[in-house]
Amino acid sequence: MTVATDILAIRLDHPENLMARYFSERYFSALSQDDQARVLKIIKSGLDNPDSQMGAYAQHGGDYDDFAPLLEPMIRDYHKIAAGQGIAQKHDWSATTSPCSLEDIDEALRDVSMRVRVGRNVAAFPLPGAMTKADRIEFEKVMIKAFDVLKDDPDFGGAYYSLTPKSAFELKGQAYQDRVDAHQMFKDMSGDRYLNSGGISSDWPFGRGMYISAAEDFIIWVGEEDHLRIMAMKRGGDLAGLFARLHVGLDKFSARVPAFAHSEKYGYITSCPTNLGTAMRASLHMALAKLTQGGQDLEAAKTVAQKFGLSVRGVGGEHSGAGQGGIVDISPSARLGITESEIMHRLFDGAKALWALEKGA
Ligand code: ARG
Repeated sequence: MTVATDILAIRLDHPENLMARYFSERYFSALSQDDQARVLKIIKSGLDNPDSQMGAYAQHGGDYDDFAPLLEPMIRDYHKIAAGQGIAQKHDWSATTSPCSLEDIDEALRDVSMRVRVGRNVAAFPLPGAMTKADRIEFEKVMIKAFDVLKDDPDFGGAYYSLTPKSAFELKGQAYQDRVDAHQMFKDMSGDRYLNSGGISSDWPFGRGMYISAAEDFIIWVGEEDHLRIMAMKRGGDLAGLFARLHVGLDKFSARVPAFAHSEKYGYITSCPTNLGTAMRASLHMALAKLTQGGQDLEAAKTVAQKFGLSVRGVGGEHSGAGQGGIVDISPSARLGITESEIMHRLFDGAKALWALEKGA
């Protein structure tokens, strides 16, 4: 059986798998042997996991340009950018300096769990899927030096914890698990079949770790799906304050890190094509007891939320169910072709619309 036949079978059984939908045997067979080998690495996750939604992880920043005939249609489909419409990612954080508070929707929303993260990859290293163990260890060393700029800052001072065995900053066992349970640290990646096939979880747990501010509201993950995941998390209602916290910390830290992989077209380059553009995911936890039938039915809430450009997932992370009392995680679906400021407003407007439905439902 050739790859093309395998992919055809996936396309029939799993119409949601975008890799399978857009893979072209004609394009593939016209590539050089080397390029075919590169494409096979990029699409391996979607081949091994037919139920993938995207089904591909870039291995090098240049993959998006080098294999545009395959990847661009997948990207356009996922991010809903029509064929023929230009793609040029713009960045704008300006709205985060004017007030935007969830309390303005309802007094009841003054104490929600809010989180915003961006993915970043350093251009000088291969993307996580193609890193060697030595690359991962070296990358972490470079970051540990860069964290000094935060450690010395009164607003961002904190500590770095490493999962690398025998590291001077080692975090392991129950102490690691406690950070995972507190939603501060990422889960054991070796348990994720998508990441495993994409090469992203290789050499686990070497080169992995997290920086966390003393207030525990500013966190940087090292060595997860992207080289860096930089985030702010808070309980409260001040959405603009949350974004501003991320923006300030991100700027301080970025000034000390070698250049990030970025393109005029796709914005910040990420392993997964779903995250291109702003590479931003901003979310809130909301109790939607009625819209989820008491937490029993996420699908109904997903369908409603889609109308407002929001995705719904459980509070236990990707692929998890609703929590007690129908608590779900809502976030704007778009990452590409939308600015950082627009994401903040989409989340606010979407939360407002969903809340009105929940109250009236
Ligand atoms: N590779 C998985 C898929 O294609 C994950 C997609 C989105 N999630 C993510 N964490 N990048 O279905």
